[in-house]
Amino acid sequence: PAPIAILSALAEEQAGLIEVLESPRRVEHAGRTFWCGRLCGQPVVLALSRIGKVAAATTATALIAHFGVGRIVFTGVAGGVGAGVQVGDVVVGTSYVQHDMDASPLFPRYEVPLYGQAVFAGEVALCAALQSATGQALAGTLHQGRAPAVHCGLIASGDRFVNGASEVAALVGALTAAGHTPLAVEMEGAAVAQVCADYGVPFAAVRTISDRADDSAHLDFSQFVNEVASIYARNIIHVLLSS
Ligand code: ADE
Repeated sequence: PAPIAILSALAEEQAGLIEVLESPRRVEHAGRTFWCGRLCGQPVVLALSRIGKVAAATTATALIAHFGVGRIVFTGVAGGVGAGVQVGDVVVGTSYVQHDMDASPLFPRYEVPLYGQAVFAGEVALCAALQSATGQALAGTLHQGRAPAVHCGLIASGDRFVNGASEVAALVGALTAAGHTPLAVEMEGAAVAQVCADYGVPFAAVRTISDRADDSAHLDFSQFVNEVASIYARNIIHVLLSS
C-alpha cells in the first residue's frame, strides 16, 4: 500500500514518532529530512512541514510526487479562536481557509483565484478516523484539571502568528462576514489542503490548542509543545494507525 505521511510542524512533535519508527530510513530531499519506515506495521513517511504556507506546500508536494504517499495527516498546534476552544483542547480540521488570501476586487475575498473556492475540505473518512482516534487517545487525560474537548470544524491558515485580542476579533469578524467562522488559526493547514486537492490525495489535520492567539500567545509555547502537544500527537497517531 502507499505510505501514509505524518507531517509535523515542529521537530519536538516529530521526535516522539521517530523514536518508535520501525526500520527507519533517513532520506534527504528538497533541503529537508524525511524518515521512511513503519509505525504499527504500516508504511509511513515522517516529515517536517517547517512553518508557513509555502514551506508546508513544498513539503506536501514532495511527499506526494517524490515519496508517493497516499494520505497526509498533519499534527501540530494552533491558536484557539472559536468560542469555547480552550488551551489543551484538540481541533480536527474538517475544512481549511487561507485567512490572508485577498485578491479582491478581482475575486471574492478569501477565494483562491481560479479555483472558485475559498474553503478546501478535509477528507471525510480520514477526519472521522482522526476524530475517533483523538477521542480514544485522550480518554482519561486531564489538562490543568480539565478533560480536553475535541472540536471538529474550520481551521484558518495564514503567514502570521496571531497574537492580539483585537487582531483575533478583526480576523474572525472578517472571516465570519464571508461565511467562514474558524475554530483555530495556524500557518500551514490550508496550504497542505490545497496541494492535496490538486493531487486528489486525502488530507486531515489534528491541532492541539497551545494558546488563544492573544497577547500572551507566545508565552510557554515551547514548553506546551514539548510537554503536551507532542505527547497528544504521538498517542493520536498510534491509535489512528493501529485501528
Ligand atoms: N500556532 C499556534 N498558535 C498560533 C497562533 N497564535 N497563530 C498562528 N499560528 C499558531
